[in-house]
Amino acid sequence: MLCCPRCLRLLPVGKGEQGAGRDLLGADRIACATEGCGGRWDLGHGIPDLYLAAPERGEDVAATERVRLFYEARPFPDYRDTDDLGALVRRGRANPFTRALDDEIPPRANVVEVGCGAGQMGLFLSVAGRQVLGLDLTWASLGLADAFRRAAGLLTVTLARANVFRLPLATGSVDVAIFNGVIHHTANPRAVFAELARVGRPGGYVVLGLYNRYGRALLPPLGPKHARSAGAGAGCAVVVTGWGRRALGHRGSQAAVKA
Ligand SMILES: C[S@@+](CC[C@H](N)C(=O)[O-])C[C@H]1O[C@@H](n2cnc3c(N)ncnc32)[C@H](O)[C@@H]1O
Ligand SMILES: [Zn+2]
Repeated sequence: MLCCPRCLRLLPVGKGEQGAGRDLLGADRIACATEGCGGRWDLGHGIPDLYLAAPERGEDVAATERVRLFYEARPFPDYRDTDDLGALVRRGRANPFTRALDDEIPPRANVVEVGCGAGQMGLFLSVAGRQVLGLDLTWASLGLADAFRRAAGLLTVTLARANVFRLPLATGSVDVAIFNGVIHHTANPRAVFAELARVGRPGGYVVLGLYNRYGRALLPPLGPKHARSAGAGAGCAVVVTGWGRRALGHRGSQAAVKA
């Protein structure tokens, strides 16, 4: 499913079916096969680096770099040392919003968590066997997601470093894009939303979350002091936009009203 972010040609990285079994860890770099593209992508971390800046789409590259440096120092959401798959599943199933996503997204849907951070939502949704792709700007966050993915044996999760302004995904290829707590960190939310809409499959969904108590559902419970400093419950919204009419949008909207 991963594409060259320059020309959008499918790259033979990620799951075996895309690359005829090519071992990601065995290659350092991959060259895009499109004539004249010139894209060369680093695979050295075991997580493809498909980040490409997009100033012509309204990205303020310096602002993106500031955000990256912030999250490199404070990857989010963090894991507790005691966190294991059971704890993640218990938290995900205990919260009405994440449980609704888990119940409503069909097991065969492909899910992309854009700006996944340490990937807790995507990892949780992969437990039912869904193919999940987690994309983020920040190595520190992707490293945490990768460590959890490996320890828990979540084999249907793929991770890559990428830019929300220029997603390494084919147009109309994503069933469910989850975009939680990210758009307000970008200098041009309109351009970012247009990019999300580009990759969405007709009939698919974008689940767009701003700061709210449901968006932090997979974190360990916080005390009131932490909750206040994280802005929980402070005039927040969860917006679920569907291109289709399935129940996910309906239940998600109910979550939005409650938030
Ligand atoms: C508040 S965290 C949200 C993490 C996760 N979605 C969650 O809800 O727990 C914001 C994340 O957005 C990522 N991010 C910010 N700007 C980005 C960009 N231009 N491209 C990709 N990821 C970006 C950051 O690296 C960070 O991990
Ligand atoms: Zn290319």
